[in-house]
Formats: sequence, C-alpha cells, structure tokens
Amino acid sequence: MLGLKAFEPNRDIASPNRNIAPISSEISESKKLLVGGCQLSELAKKYGTPLYVVDELTLRTACKTYMNSLKKHYPGDSLPLFASKANSSLAICALIASEGFGLDAVSEGELLTALKGGVKGKNIVFHGNNKSYAELDFAYKNNVTIVLDNNHDIQLLKKIASDKKPAKLMLRFTPGIECHTHEYIRTGHLDSKFGFDPDEVKSVLEQLKKYKWANLTGLHAHIGSQIFEVQPHIDLAGVMADTFRLAKEIGHPIADLNIGGGLGIKYVASDDPPSIDKWIEVISRAVVKACEEKNLDLPRLMCEPGRSLVANSGITIYKIGAKKIVPGIRTYFSVDGGMSDNPRPITYQSLYSACLVDKPLDSNFEKVTIAGKHCESGDVLLNDFFLPSCESGDFLAVFGTGAYNYSMSSNYNRIPRPATVMVGEGCVELIQKRELPEDLLQLDVLPDRFIAKN
Ligand SMILES: Cc1ncc(COP(=O)(O)O)c(C=O)c1O
Repeated sequence: MLGLKAFEPNRDIASPNRNIAPISSEISESKKLLVGGCQLSELAKKYGTPLYVVDELTLRTACKTYMNSLKKHYPGDSLPLFASKANSSLAICALIASEGFGLDAVSEGELLTALKGGVKGKNIVFHGNNKSYAELDFAYKNNVTIVLDNNHDIQLLKKIASDKKPAKLMLRFTPGIECHTHEYIRTGHLDSKFGFDPDEVKSVLEQLKKYKWANLTGLHAHIGSQIFEVQPHIDLAGVMADTFRLAKEIGHPIADLNIGGGLGIKYVASDDPPSIDKWIEVISRAVVKACEEKNLDLPRLMCEPGRSLVANSGITIYKIGAKKIVPGIRTYFSVDGGMSDNPRPITYQSLYSACLVDKPLDSNFEKVTIAGKHCESGDVLLNDFFLPSCESGDFLAVFGTGAYNYSMSSNYNRIPRPATVMVGEGCVELIQKRELPEDLLQLDVLPDRFIAKN
C-alpha cells in the first residue's frame, strides 16, 4: 500500500465519500498540507496531538449532495437523517441541522446532544435493541419518533405513552438481506439482534393497531455498513414495499420508509464506492418502481447515512515519537495516539491512508508500521505502510477518520481523548476540548477507608 502520493488529482468534489482526503486539501507553496485553508502542522502545534480535524466544506458538501440528489431523483417527500453514532457532538449536530438533515440516535446521550445541537425532536428517530424506560420516556417527551425494535419496547411504551398523546413510531424489521463489505446474501431469516423477525411482523402490526397510544407512521430496515454494491438496497426497496403495503392494509397511517444507511467510502486507493448521487438515484428508482408495482402512494423516503456523510471530512493528526527497527522484519514508528482514538484497525483490521503533513509530496518511500502507544501488541494504525522517510517529531495525518473514531474512542490506558477542531476558509474553531488526565478522575470515588491515615 502506498502513501498518498499527490492530492488526488481526480477528486470527486460533489461526493466526498469517493475521495480519501477532504475536498479542501491542498499543498501550499512551501509544500505543506493544508485542509480548509489551514496548515495542519500549525494546527498540531497550536492544539496539540493527537488532534481530530473536521473539514467544514467536505461535511457540508456531503450534506448538500444527499439533499440535492433526493430532490433530483425522488419525486416524493424525503428526509435524510444523520446516523449520529458515526460522530456525535454539538457542533456536528448543529451543522447537519443547518443543512436540513434530521438525525438518528441510539442512546439518551446521542438524543441529548442532537436536541441541544438544535435538531428538532420531530426530525429525530430513536433506535436501539435494548432501550431503557428512561430513554424511551425522554424520547417520547421530546416528540422523537421511536423505532420499535422488539416487544420489550412495546411493553415499556405501554406504560409511557398515553392515548391523548400517542407515541410516533416506526417498526424495524430484519429484511433477510445481509451485507458483508463486498458481497451480500439474501435469506429468509437473519441472525440479527436488531428488529423484528419477518415472520413476526404481521402479528406485531395487528397488535399495534389495537393500541390508541401507538401511532405507527413508518418502517425501517438497515442492512449493513461500508457497502459498495447497490443491488442490496434495490432488493431492500422491494421487501420494504411489501411490508409497507401490509401495514396499510392493516390500517396504519404509514407514510415513512426508512432504508437505513450503509453507503461505503474510500479509505484506501483500491476502494471504489458509488457516489452519493448514484446511491440515491438507484434507491429512489427502486422505491418508485416497487410502489408502482404494489399500487402504493409514494412514501416519504428516509435514509440514514453516517460514514458516507462524515468520514472523509475527518483527519487525525499524530506526532511521531519512538522508532524501533526489528532487523529484517519491520520498522515501527510509534505515534502519540492509537486504539483509544481509533479502535477500528484493532477491532476490524480496517485500512487507512496517511501522509506526513509537512512532506506530503515526498516520494523517498520506506515501508514502516505505525503503532499506537497503548499496551496492546495489536495497537497498530497502519501496517507495512509506505511513507517518505520520517523521524521523531514529524506530524502524520491519517485520513477518513471522521466516522466511528471519536464516537468509538475510549480512555484505554487512561489516555485522554483528543480535541476536535473544525476548519474552513482559513479559520479554525475548537469544537471539542482535549480531555486532561485530571478529567479522567472526575467520576472516580475514593472511599474514606482507602485514604492513608498517616
Ligand atoms: C440503524 C442504522 N442506521 C444507520 C447506520 C449508519 O450506517 P453507515 O455509517 O454505514 O451509513 C447504522 C450503522 O450501523 C445503523 O445501525
């Protein structure tokens, strides 16, 4: 795997998921890497490392492309929702709301962040396969649409929702389409912890019809993530239209069809995901066709992109520290972060692209392994990666870290989380402060009996 040699001359400006680097990436006259008009090494010096950087232009462009493509290709109403599990913070929620997006949340924390970030309850859907009473109550009180995942949800909501103010609900079911990254299978039943089994759906729809507190307005299915093929979503439209028709026949005032997220992104040069526009076009056509065939009015079309919306707007900057040469085997360079700020490589063996921020065009490549600083041998961010010769003190930018990095981060080894800055038009704003080691003690309680007496 080669490092990023030049800055992607064939950038797809309208579809950030098809580029490795943020679309505002450029090389300055002094041959340094700039994103959002800001020199990355200057950001690293000012805000410290590791540092998450979000490029506002890339994120807004992805939002606008989803919006415009839905308007262009889908003749009915539509509402794209940001899957906030990909990266939840006040600033990101506020940005996506300002672009007309709704949001999907899976916990009270994500709901609270969205609401405080300015997303209206009516534009939020609440998922989860084990929602608590308190979470459901919070969602209900904030007029959030609740996605029924199982009977446990129904039993809890019976106690929360009233006939006078029915809960707005969607029903999630497993559609029998399973996606692995580059292949998919269709089965009758799926071994999934999410959603109702297809065989249960009819009886659940009939049961819900009896409850005045339940206002079922939509259906939901999500088939996987980092998907490069479009056929699984075409099949999904057909399966969902069948269930949509069934729900109508049973008498539900159903109007929303939510096909989930899943569009893939380019992490490394060999990744070739469809563009956002292509994905929306194909899905729109499939939904329209399935509705025509089943004689259904067009539903409001919802989708829930996470990764394809935010991943490519994000970069993580690290500082390179220790070097270790294992003769004849490999050269390790260790950075000041790793699996606590990006658990994807150790969890899924995910691949990334990277470059030296002040030598982005150097081509005197050597094969190196970039290791994290945590006490796990598997804490490696880039394995056998070709980088221009580097030394301790160089800054490294890892691309495509805007999704499932901060949101999956931890304090493993009591390492504080990095700060996040948003860049655009040469300006930089702090949107999440760096945690400090003292912050990690905030919630610890030391019982008196452990305090030394002398
Ligand atoms: C229900 C649901 N919707 C949307 C998403 C977002 O998927 P992606 O980030 O692949 O677009 C996920 C991710 O797992 C999900 O579980």
